[in-house]
Amino acid sequence: MVQKARRKALMIALAGSALMMATAAKAQGTLVLYCSVQEEWCRPMASAFEKETGIKVSMTRKSSGETYAQIKAEASNPRGDVWWGGTGDPHLQAAEEGLTEAYESPKMAELHDWAVKQWKGSQGRTIGIYAGALGFGFNTKQVASRGIPEPKCWSDLINAKLKDEVQVADPNSSGTSYTMLATLVQLMGEDKAFEYLKALHRNINQYTKSGAAPAKATSLGETTIGITFMHDMVTMVVNGGPVKVVAPCEGTGYEIGSMSIVKGARNLDNAKKFYDWALTPAAQKLAEEAKSYQVPSNKNVVPPPQSPKLADVKLIDYDFAKYGSSAERKRLLSKWDNDVKKLPK
Ligand code: F6P
Repeated sequence: MVQKARRKALMIALAGSALMMATAAKAQGTLVLYCSVQEEWCRPMASAFEKETGIKVSMTRKSSGETYAQIKAEASNPRGDVWWGGTGDPHLQAAEEGLTEAYESPKMAELHDWAVKQWKGSQGRTIGIYAGALGFGFNTKQVASRGIPEPKCWSDLINAKLKDEVQVADPNSSGTSYTMLATLVQLMGEDKAFEYLKALHRNINQYTKSGAAPAKATSLGETTIGITFMHDMVTMVVNGGPVKVVAPCEGTGYEIGSMSIVKGARNLDNAKKFYDWALTPAAQKLAEEAKSYQVPSNKNVVPPPQSPKLADVKLIDYDFAKYGSSAERKRLLSKWDNDVKKLPK
């Protein structure tokens, strides 16, 4: 009898504490995260933030151009809270179009100038979280077996011997590929850049959706050459793939990977909590664990030793204000659709 009463009391106590825990978790609420880096890095970011704060994260990964398009399509009924990662240009376009919210984080003082410049240039609507240079990689076995000289420059990629041997993403969906488009225009001038892109088109075996996909394809030998950010090719080398990473001899562009809070975010407080946390050294160090080798924006994080050293790459003075502007991005993408993508091969 006494035992039965004790058991009942215990059950009530247990049920009570379970209810308290559930209520506490509920009190932390949720966060809808749009993530535009590699899935392998998005997932640990979401779970580390959940663990640290008790906030339940619902994460979707899409490429930079696709996420921009989604946020725009949802503007009258926003569903996302934070857009984390992806190239800076579409984040700047979203900022200009009023799709994202201004916010000043207390972590700002810890960031490199290039990260803060992104914030200032967008009236506080987007901020730099990492940087990385554009380049390409090639499969060393394929290049050797085909007797092709090792490519070193942009100009090497339009060699007629490379027909169907080069892969790059579609610049509409991919921020990487838009960075290439804007880089070539800045390097060569617009007319020559489009002549180059038309010649390159003959050598392209596939325009992928995601910018980093050609890195995997290069490592697997599905394509001889892949145009991606250099750090995405480095991941393939670290994984043991037969890949050589190239910083194009003529010079190249770079990205300032960015983060923005969605205008009208339903979970605005949690969005700000994520934003502040994502700028901390602890959060930025997760990149290296996920084999992501961008240069982190927090000055207190030592870049992974495998990260391409930006000071050793011939970087152009990429005009983010111009190429991240809504009018210019729209214009260049539709010109690429009409003048390049439509061409027969
Ligand atoms: O996560 C790898 C990465 O290359 C980032 O550095 C970059 O911001 C993002 O992917 C771009 O992806 P996409 O080209 O698919 O938009």
